[in-house]
Amino acid sequence: MPSSTRLSVRWTAWLCLFISFLGLFSPAFAVKENDFKKCNQSGFCKRNRAYADTAVATGSSWQSPYNVVADSAHFKDGQFQATILKTINDQGETVRLPVTVSFLKNGAARVTVDEEKRQKKDIELRHNSKARKERYNEAEKWVIVGGTALDTEAKLTYEGKSQWTIKYGPSSNLEAVIEFSPFSLDFKRDGASQIKFNDRGLLNMEHWRPKVDKPAPEKKEGEEAKEGETPEEPKGEDESTWWDETFGGNTDSKPRGPESVALDISFVGYDHVYGIPSHTGPLSLKETRGGDGNYADPYRLYNLDVFEYILDSPMTLYGAIPFMQAHRKDSTVGVFWLNSAETWIDITKAKGHTNPLALGIGAKTNTQTHWISESGLLDVFVFLGPTPQDITKTYGELTGTTAMPQEFAIGYHQCRWNYISDDDVKDVDRKMDKFKIPYDVIWLDIEYTDGKKYFTWDPNMFKDPISMGKHLDERGRKLVTIIDPHIKNEEGYHVVSELKSKDLAVKNKDGEIFDGWCWPGSSHWLDAFNPTAISWWASLFKYDAFKGTMENTWIWNDMNEPSVFNGPETTMPKDNLHHGGWEHRDLHNLNGLTFHNATASAVVSRKKGEVRRPFVLTRSFFAGSQRLGAMWTGDNEASWGHLGGSLPMLLSQGISGFPFSGADVGGFFGDPDKDLQTRWYQAGAFYPFFRGHAHIDARRREPYLAGEPYTAIITAALRLRYSLLPAWYTAFYQAHRDGTPIIRPMFYTHPTEEGGFDVDDQLFVGGTGILVKPIVEQGKEETDIFIPDDEVYYDYFTYEVLPTHKGKRVTVSAPLDKIPVLMRGGHIFPRRDKPRRSSALMRWDDYTLVVALDRDGKSAEGELYADDGDSFEFEGGQYIHRKFVLAGGHTLTSVDAEGLEKGSVKEGDWMKEMRKVNVDRVIVVGAPKEWKDKKEVTVEGEDGTWTAEMDYNPAAKGRAAFAVVRKVGARIGGDFRIVF
Ligand code: NOJ
Repeated sequence: MPSSTRLSVRWTAWLCLFISFLGLFSPAFAVKENDFKKCNQSGFCKRNRAYADTAVATGSSWQSPYNVVADSAHFKDGQFQATILKTINDQGETVRLPVTVSFLKNGAARVTVDEEKRQKKDIELRHNSKARKERYNEAEKWVIVGGTALDTEAKLTYEGKSQWTIKYGPSSNLEAVIEFSPFSLDFKRDGASQIKFNDRGLLNMEHWRPKVDKPAPEKKEGEEAKEGETPEEPKGEDESTWWDETFGGNTDSKPRGPESVALDISFVGYDHVYGIPSHTGPLSLKETRGGDGNYADPYRLYNLDVFEYILDSPMTLYGAIPFMQAHRKDSTVGVFWLNSAETWIDITKAKGHTNPLALGIGAKTNTQTHWISESGLLDVFVFLGPTPQDITKTYGELTGTTAMPQEFAIGYHQCRWNYISDDDVKDVDRKMDKFKIPYDVIWLDIEYTDGKKYFTWDPNMFKDPISMGKHLDERGRKLVTIIDPHIKNEEGYHVVSELKSKDLAVKNKDGEIFDGWCWPGSSHWLDAFNPTAISWWASLFKYDAFKGTMENTWIWNDMNEPSVFNGPETTMPKDNLHHGGWEHRDLHNLNGLTFHNATASAVVSRKKGEVRRPFVLTRSFFAGSQRLGAMWTGDNEASWGHLGGSLPMLLSQGISGFPFSGADVGGFFGDPDKDLQTRWYQAGAFYPFFRGHAHIDARRREPYLAGEPYTAIITAALRLRYSLLPAWYTAFYQAHRDGTPIIRPMFYTHPTEEGGFDVDDQLFVGGTGILVKPIVEQGKEETDIFIPDDEVYYDYFTYEVLPTHKGKRVTVSAPLDKIPVLMRGGHIFPRRDKPRRSSALMRWDDYTLVVALDRDGKSAEGELYADDGDSFEFEGGQYIHRKFVLAGGHTLTSVDAEGLEKGSVKEGDWMKEMRKVNVDRVIVVGAPKEWKDKKEVTVEGEDGTWTAEMDYNPAAKGRAAFAVVRKVGARIGGDFRIVF
């Protein structure tokens, strides 16, 4: 290394330290926007946008240069294959791009385009690079877990000279029209176009070409281009970023030259698109090509450590799911862009384009999207719905669904950076008990380690971690410790010595171990793409290797984008090399998933014979990460804006297949005032992942410190969460079973109610009918809730019947001690009402069933799913899944939700113990007048018939009548009937 470079590296390092030091102590909350690229600072994004601009400017004479060779086309066993020729110059030279369109049994279609020359490795890399020559083709390996069986019934129904039509789908009502010249695809459902590829001619696969050294244009004195400034563009293609690219003082050597892939995807007749998390901003995505209220930049997906992120922005964040759904009244369709390189997505809406074949109101807009990735294959899945549930289900079959969580993981988590000692942890734990505040998990951030060396403990502050663990265990509580992917480069640290000697770290472009800066200073990074690295990583988590941990210790993975303080855009150089010779650029967005995967598989194998579900929280993620644990939205800020902003972010996570999500309650940076903190707990009680967290500089803010009335109000929110844990767990099970979101936006639950399509500040909890609109504004004491249907809605706490009308808003009062929570008529949901200190202590508690009768006062339905909350025995049938139905206004029945015969599963220990657990209370809201003189009901259980007492409370002052049946005594796991 020349000494000048060494010097500048040292300087950068000092600067980084200084900046992070400043970051620790200055409360100026705003992302340094200029540290992150805009599209025009990202060569391939800029080139593809320019390509799109040229297409638009050229108008109808624009010709996409991609044509299918008719003779090459064939269709067999559900797969269309052909070669596309891309014409690359005026002389008619072409490059060959093999294309496959696969029709899948589940009704999805998949379009893959590769580049023959790179496929055959028939290219030369520059700078003696040791990188792979092919386009990255392993994203599938990490992401896709099923659902790819071909639909061998799919039929070629039209075989013209330059157009083929293939009919497919479980009901044979789907069609793909493949145009050859130029290549384009039109996906139809019931004869109507839904999704079109290359309709606007923006398909672009930058083919391999050798670098031709042209004489540099003469520069006049004083004409040096400044960093960030683009030199005047030469005519023709913009080659300025083909061969290398500099940003923020870092140069990317690009050994393979330009290789982006881009495609326009139009949603015909759709005016709402959702998904592609993680971004701040509304659930219904905005247009990105400027104009009033629109963004000027595309949505970006490039996982980065964007601390102090701004609201309402298409800027990238920590995780990426390139899955988008388009929705209009009565129809939802979607695409999944399987590419793990840096990706940008432009969205525009062409209004007034009527699609005569698209039925339904709101079919006047075409939403046009333009997907641009830096490298890799073109690999896109198409889903034609027609319901939002169909889309999330099929996507779940492909990428996997939410893992069944450890049951404690859906309780409340108490975190801060940092609890400073084992005594501190015990003290917080005792105080939570003293104030009767339920919680399940306390967290340790990076300071617990000995000098940021993971798998070690600070010997002064954490003298006896096992005694701390045992102390927590006595109350059924858990400990989460952070483990990051950067490994301190320090002599004598056994983890780094092994990492190096076993050759398991990420390499730089020259094939040497990559060295960068993170919390510990100079560090190396685990290459979790390497199977050997994954096994070695697992060895570090064994109880006798990570000393001080025990059965109730679980793990938090942070900084896994990866965050590299002195790297380009605070991450790894794109020309770094991973296992198999892949460049970091190709798989960057998968990096977090692979680290999360390595940790989750390590946690399940800590001890031979101990088979328990892992709990690992991740900051960075990709499509498929839902199989591994939970995520949170990173470093938000203690402001009302960030509280409000968390809701669309989490709703977006939910519909994008990764619903086990939360935001730091209270806000990470800064100190929330007490109103904000209280409101945040009320909202957090409805996050699937519920954790309070705070920056190292933030004042202590454990709920008991808030003082009255705040502590009591926060405790009430926590108790509400705990009493509803059975309902939450059931929602998790539904997410696990078929990819359904845990918290659900209005468009998802009411896909025909147009007024709800852009509502993203309220949510339904699973299928419970519980509708919540957290207060996210300072001083607000009432709010308007959008009502999506004609059902009756009751206030959750008072049973007041609200004056609701479909498609209208209803005003509800919400002083500080009240969360606006409604119950939709027609639902039954389970609760456990006995206040306890942790979820573990609720394990054998009896249940309450809340029945919210529908507007006719006659019926309601609901579900309960329960298992041991810890092992994988549920996979072998060790669970209780009940369906509750109240019908005819008089009989409540509980039957096996899956129609299983009694005795068909041999009961294990948990199921046997559950025989003692009953339904204790049934509360019927909206109880019919006819019940008014009843004092008891008949209960028919599996072991006989008996009576139970009932109180009837007549309707009064707007409040619905309700009945409470006490000491029901019906076994939760068995069939029963209650006759009113
Ligand atoms: C960044 C994370 O986002 C934050 O939650 C954590 O407290 C710090 N890293 C320190 O580990």
